[in-house]
Amino acid sequence: MHTELERAFDLTGRTAVVTGAASGIGRQACITFAQAGADIVLTDVAESGLRATAGAVRALGRAATAVPADVTDRAAVDGVARAALDGHGRIDVWANVAGVIRYGPIVDTPEEELDLVLDVNLKGTYWGCAAAARAMTARKAGSIINVASTGMDTATPGISCYAMSKAAVATLTRTLAAEVGPHGVRANTVAPGWVPTGMTERYWVGDDGTVDEAKREQIFADRAAHTPLRTIGEPSDIAWAMLYLAADASRFVTGQVLRANGGASMA
Ligand SMILES: NC(=O)c1ccc[n+]([C@@H]2O[C@H](COP(=O)([O-])OP(=O)(O)OC[C@H]3O[C@@H](n4cnc5c(N)ncnc54)[C@H](O)[C@@H]3O)[C@@H](O)[C@H]2O)c1
Repeated sequence: MHTELERAFDLTGRTAVVTGAASGIGRQACITFAQAGADIVLTDVAESGLRATAGAVRALGRAATAVPADVTDRAAVDGVARAALDGHGRIDVWANVAGVIRYGPIVDTPEEELDLVLDVNLKGTYWGCAAAARAMTARKAGSIINVASTGMDTATPGISCYAMSKAAVATLTRTLAAEVGPHGVRANTVAPGWVPTGMTERYWVGDDGTVDEAKREQIFADRAAHTPLRTIGEPSDIAWAMLYLAADASRFVTGQVLRANGGASMA
């Protein structure tokens, strides 16, 4: 490949922090960033999944520092940043991927569910942004990537808490981009379309782990039918978009929402 092109996507010598790293999109982002040469500081509440992702990163020959933390806990998130700076000396990329979803109509939503979704998806992202911005503005370089959802664009019944948390993440990211831009730091949002992960597999994987193949195929076909490209994505499709935003290839891009969703929404 042409060296200029390689350099534009190369993360060699850089450190990426990824939240929600134990599963799905977060795990794939760790692997894709590591494939591009980055060392990874990874965090999640799910410790066994976190260990598995760290193993996958090390198998690629990159360093992995796993720091279990709950993103709703500001001090814990600051601890992740400290571990990254102590262990790696720098934070070049920070991806806020941790997220949860709850389903149900607005009229029946318990306050605890509203609080949980806003705490993890919005407040957790907020603390991640603050910790990342502090470390990055000091070095006058870095890229912060937040994760929203197609749900922020579409009026989908039953996901009010989730949809508004994700719309708020995009707004937070724009404000952040305006604040940190003069200090050489970028902030962008990736808005994934539907992809199979721990968050979505509840529809075809039973509590005992059994897979309902017919249900899975039906859901995949149904989801594909809702996109202009007539396909569903994979976690790697989201991670590629995140790699673009992490790397120098996007050095002129900030405050944007990159929709990786097969065209499911085009706002
Ligand atoms: N899968 C999709 O179709 C889809 C679509 C759009 C957006 N997203 C977003 O992508 C992100 C990743 O989701 P996923 O699909 O990979 O789901 P996932 O459930 O596989 O992964 C989410 C991870 O977040 C972690 N997490 C949850 N609460 C946490 C907390 N308080 N502190 C730290 N970690 C916590 C979980 O343990 C899990 O490992 C989420 O923000 C989600 O909203 C997913």
